[in-house]
Amino acid sequence: MDSNNIKTVGVLTSGGDSPGMNAALRAVTRAAIYQGIRVKAIYRGYKGLIDGEVKEFTTQDVSGIIQRGGTIIKSARCPEFKTPEGRQKAYETLQREEIDALIVIGGDGTFTGGRLFSQEYDIPIIGLPGTIDNDLWGTDATIGYDTSLSTITECIDKLRDTATSHERVFLVEVMGRDAGFLTLNAAIAGGCEAAIIPERAPVPEQIEEAIGSGRRKSKNSSIVLVQEHAVEGGAKTVAEIIEKVHPEYSTRVTVLGHLQRGGSPSAYDRILASRMGVAAVQALLDGQRNVMVGIQNDDIVLVPLTKAIHQKKDIKEDSWEALQTLSI
Ligand code: ADP
Ligand code: F6P
Repeated sequence: MDSNNIKTVGVLTSGGDSPGMNAALRAVTRAAIYQGIRVKAIYRGYKGLIDGEVKEFTTQDVSGIIQRGGTIIKSARCPEFKTPEGRQKAYETLQREEIDALIVIGGDGTFTGGRLFSQEYDIPIIGLPGTIDNDLWGTDATIGYDTSLSTITECIDKLRDTATSHERVFLVEVMGRDAGFLTLNAAIAGGCEAAIIPERAPVPEQIEEAIGSGRRKSKNSSIVLVQEHAVEGGAKTVAEIIEKVHPEYSTRVTVLGHLQRGGSPSAYDRILASRMGVAAVQALLDGQRNVMVGIQNDDIVLVPLTKAIHQKKDIKEDSWEALQTLSI
């Protein structure tokens, strides 16, 4: 597909929703219309692409959504898109709807599917990183990460009140799939005693360290964040280990769950989504394909989807050190 021939662009949100997806949808819609390109919103991610759930959007369709969490065009996980038959149906929808290119807003799974689809059917795809996990290589931040971090920090502040009053050890389970960005940075922001994250194996040693935290440092209570997949069984397992070694400790477990994905996006996420949405449309006009729009040092960049998916983004060593230093 020649970039000059892009008359209609499809846009979808896929995978786990994140605050700011609506702002991204608004930006893509308005930027495309501004450039004279028609926009078709695809409902429920790749599921809607397969089922033909498509609606042409005007600028009014995205009015009043910049401040809304979630995604007004819904999101879904769609196993059928992983099959050649599913992607064939998705392609038929594109042909029927005369959609020339796709902007997909989601995480690495969404990009993996998009890249495959693009290769099979020669469709230009641009990815916008929409996930609270911040686990995509090539971008300093993903849309929704900042909001989620603030939500988690707010929860920690509330837990701190009761942890202190009852002199308890709180184990707080934080999302992130395979990544510890939310856990580590929320631990710093919440002044926590320790964080247990998958990037810092061996986990038994981290638990040992966490056990010592707080009490050893003459505090009577502590808050330890546990990344959901760092330990089999999550925060509950860590609480059991701690109580076995120190029966005198009173532990409590809080699983923050999907609270972390909701809420009105922060100003940062709204701005990020808006800049990225405009850049995605421009990238299509410039003939780009199979790239993710990222942000590095406050500059918008284009990153090959393969790299965004396959390269491992590391946590910042100085952040890890800061947590250890400041939790004495
Ligand atoms: P996220 O995009 O947040 O990482 P998922 O991993 O659930 O979320 O991926 C979203 C969707 O992307 C999946 O439900 C599926 O439709 C599609 N997808 C993920 N991996 C693949 C794959 N290997 N091949 C084709 N489609 C995929
Ligand atoms: O990728 C976003 C995320 O919230 C992860 O942090 C978490 O592991 C997963 O999605 C939860 O998925 P679901 O909403 O399907 O339970």
